[in-house]
Amino acid sequence: MIYFDNAATTWPKPPEVLEQIARSFTDYGANPGRGAYKMAMDTSRLIYKTRETIASFFGVADCRNIVFTRNTTESVNMAIKGIINPGDHILYSSLEHNAIWRPVKALEKIGVTSDSFTVNQQGKVDFADLEAKIKPNTKLIACLHGSNVLGAVLDIAAIGAVAKKHHLYFLVDAAQTAGALPIYPEKIGIDLLAFPGHKGLYGPMGIGGLYVRDGILLNPLQEGGTGSNSLEAAQPDMMPDRLESGTVNTPGIAGLAAGIQFLNAISLEEVLRHEQMLTKYLYEELSYIPNVTIYGPDVCDHRLPVVSFNIMGKDSNEVGWTLGNDYDICVRAGYHCAPLAHKTMGTLEQGAVRISFGVYNQPWEVEKCIAAIKKIAQ
Ligand SMILES: Cc1ncc(COP(=O)(O)O)c(C=O)c1O
Repeated sequence: MIYFDNAATTWPKPPEVLEQIARSFTDYGANPGRGAYKMAMDTSRLIYKTRETIASFFGVADCRNIVFTRNTTESVNMAIKGIINPGDHILYSSLEHNAIWRPVKALEKIGVTSDSFTVNQQGKVDFADLEAKIKPNTKLIACLHGSNVLGAVLDIAAIGAVAKKHHLYFLVDAAQTAGALPIYPEKIGIDLLAFPGHKGLYGPMGIGGLYVRDGILLNPLQEGGTGSNSLEAAQPDMMPDRLESGTVNTPGIAGLAAGIQFLNAISLEEVLRHEQMLTKYLYEELSYIPNVTIYGPDVCDHRLPVVSFNIMGKDSNEVGWTLGNDYDICVRAGYHCAPLAHKTMGTLEQGAVRISFGVYNQPWEVEKCIAAIKKIAQ
């Protein structure tokens, strides 16, 4: 089997991730932050160390500003619903995934309004449009860092500067870029950074995180036991307890720590170099096949290892199914939970076939895939 659906979740996971997950049941099996006996303390230390590992990975000074969640979607919801009130206005980009679009739209029920600002297929932000859409009641700019459909990367430092100039909160969805590109929220004015543990950071599914800038007090999505201030009815203000009620996902956290250590050992630069080599190879070969349309930025340094394409006259789901069924090549077809991106690229009817690479992919796999696409396109 050839696995080219790493933008959905990376596979396979490194052996050290699997080992750490197994150890979370044997050596770290107690509820962390609750008991004072050895295994509970060991588990608490594992959770704390993982928080530190994540903070250092993103250049965050205080690891208490890293909150564990289930996935990017939960982090985005926690961020948006934690600061937005009736009457507020939100700006989001024209490439958003439903992770941002749907919670923003759901808030219309409580009197929140929103607008999208234009970003083209290459990932170029129309800054005049962005500035023109800022209103007196705009509170938040929420956007993805990299498109899961186009592979385009947005200039989040420049968007952050606009947010800062207008005293707006800035939320970044790093679902596709955490582990693919360096991101330092405290250097470039990101207030809230939502990231998955299960994609580019090579942890298991069911774990993600949210960075919250010092001084931001989010209203929690849920209240409950935190193992702290237990006599008080009110949810504690202190981080990360404020946003982490209930038992955390220790196997997920243990696996995520190992995933980040695995990445650090290889280095982000090397991961980027390897995945860009595969992306360039695929992109160039696809561009020679008649009837194939490729979307997104041209091959360049600043592109994610995600390539979407269509074959003229063929439904993307049919192509995806044929690749899986006849060639044992796993890709994703359809809309990738990103109708706004498909609207921007003009594929609302056909969807697109998406190939996305991870560290374990090899050139021979790309070669096989190109041969298969050539046959299907004939
Ligand atoms: C840009 C983007 N945002 C959000 C998500 C949702 O991520 P998660 O599954 O971790 O909630 C994805 C998933 O593919 C994505 O690509």
